[in-house]
Amino acid sequence: MIKNSIGWLALLVLVCCKHNSPKDTPLPYNEAEKYSGGTSTTFDIGEQAFNHAVGGLGGIYKIKNYGSVSDTVTFAEYFKLGNSDFRMPWVSAGNTTTARDGLGPFLNATNCSACHSDDGRGKPDLQNGLLFRLSIPGTDAHGGPKPEPNYGGQLSNFAVFGVPAEGDVSILYEEIKGMFADGETYSLRKPKYEFVGMNYGALSSEVLFSPRVGPQVYGLGLLEAIPESEILKYTDEFDTDKDSISGKANYVWDQAKQTNSLGRFGWKANQPNLKQQIAGAFLGDMGLTTSLNPEENLSGNQVSLYGNLPTGGKPEVSDSIIEELLFYQRCLAVPGRRNIDKAEVIQGKQLFISLNCNKCHVEKQMTGASTISALANQTIYPYTDLLLHDMGNELADQRPDFLATGNEWRTPPLWGIGLIKTVNKHTFLLHDGRARDFKEAILWHGGEAEPSKNKFLKLSKTERDQLIQFLESM
Ligand code: HEC
Ligand code: HEC
Repeated sequence: MIKNSIGWLALLVLVCCKHNSPKDTPLPYNEAEKYSGGTSTTFDIGEQAFNHAVGGLGGIYKIKNYGSVSDTVTFAEYFKLGNSDFRMPWVSAGNTTTARDGLGPFLNATNCSACHSDDGRGKPDLQNGLLFRLSIPGTDAHGGPKPEPNYGGQLSNFAVFGVPAEGDVSILYEEIKGMFADGETYSLRKPKYEFVGMNYGALSSEVLFSPRVGPQVYGLGLLEAIPESEILKYTDEFDTDKDSISGKANYVWDQAKQTNSLGRFGWKANQPNLKQQIAGAFLGDMGLTTSLNPEENLSGNQVSLYGNLPTGGKPEVSDSIIEELLFYQRCLAVPGRRNIDKAEVIQGKQLFISLNCNKCHVEKQMTGASTISALANQTIYPYTDLLLHDMGNELADQRPDFLATGNEWRTPPLWGIGLIKTVNKHTFLLHDGRARDFKEAILWHGGEAEPSKNKFLKLSKTERDQLIQFLESM
């Protein structure tokens, strides 16, 4: 919070100083870009960089049906409650802790932060943030993926005591060598997955699967507050401007509205809002029911085997916990940019534009109305259009997700991405964590981004470093 008021002060000073600079010497960069998440950007660049609340959270936050503490709590207190909900492990039913029980029977992890460590990026292994979505060809009643008959929509590699896990995945990488135009060589690792130790019958011979790593979770309230019309402005599904880049909106089932809505979250924009994303995580990743998903996550013969196990209540996760977490996820502040006045970073940004990276990683967006004033009407720099793009066969999972084809992925926001290294102590990128650094992430771009990748291959070593320094300044 103190950091944020300093941020505000800095913004004021900047605005004042800018007035004094002569009009005919335009700055080679725009100071406002530092404020990636608008006025409530955080400037902590340490290990807790992803764990700050947006500013302007002073005062009383009134909560309806909020029984456990009192009728009213401050914003700051509420944020803290959500913070602890995100981190506290859940336990199986029948335990002494009745407030946080009901875990499983099948699960991938016992808490949210297992896959979003320090609100940041998971690692590409099944213990630290990678999960596998499953389906078979066809669609469910709402146009979404059709669950695999024996294992449902997601592989659970853990279960509660006494219940065998669904199975596991062996992950192997094949190194693929390549060369930049200047002769420098590189190596990319292509993942190969094999389902092993499957305990509830054979996987369908037609199974489709999608490996996905838990992404960073800051700035999501801002992304949720971008008006739909702003996002749709960038769609160009049939590439009418002939720049090879299209951009397609996903429309996904909205459980609360009981209709299809614009998808914004997840690697394929497969969730329409944060509440549904969170309830989906409780059920799919932790085996916990909510009022949005009241039925346990059991498929095939699991229903007869475990349908009568004790539960942690109906639902297992109270509406107050969902509301706390929703508020927490909405209010995590975005880290600001560093080094934006450095010559290499300025050059790197120019390359980012000339390579057409910004056609998908759209620099600037505006938020609209929000019940949380710090999120309303903000100019933000998320570097995403939140739309789907065909990224080529190499990145494809071949598993459709509502309107997203097997080749399509949502442009991930790049804000704060340079700090994953500090917060999460690794630099694995892309939906399945196959890229080991920024360079490899770019080199995997294909499909609509093939021309951008090809231009990257032709850059000089100095230029490549500049582009990477720009990404590191995010
Ligand atoms: C087993 C690992 C795992 C656990 C546990 C987990 N998540 Fe996630 N989370 C993911 C993955 C993977 C995605 C991307 C999902 C997709 O593409 O469909 C994701 C996506 C999200 C997103 C959307 C982010 C974005 O930028 O689109 C939010 C919000 C989120 N998770 C919150 C939570 C919360 C809250 C919890 C706890 C209730 C939780 N997650 C538990 C792995 C996990
Ligand atoms: C056609 C749209 C498009 C263009 C053009 C494009 N990207 Fe991407 N970018 C994406 C999508 C979609 C992904 C996610 C792909 C995946 O995870 O499989 C992505 C992923 C990334 C990532 C990894 C992000 C993460 O969270 O893991 C980086 C870094 C990145 N792009 C940088 C660039 C740069 C630099 C350029 C220009 C050389 C560029 N992109 C051009 C759409 C695009």
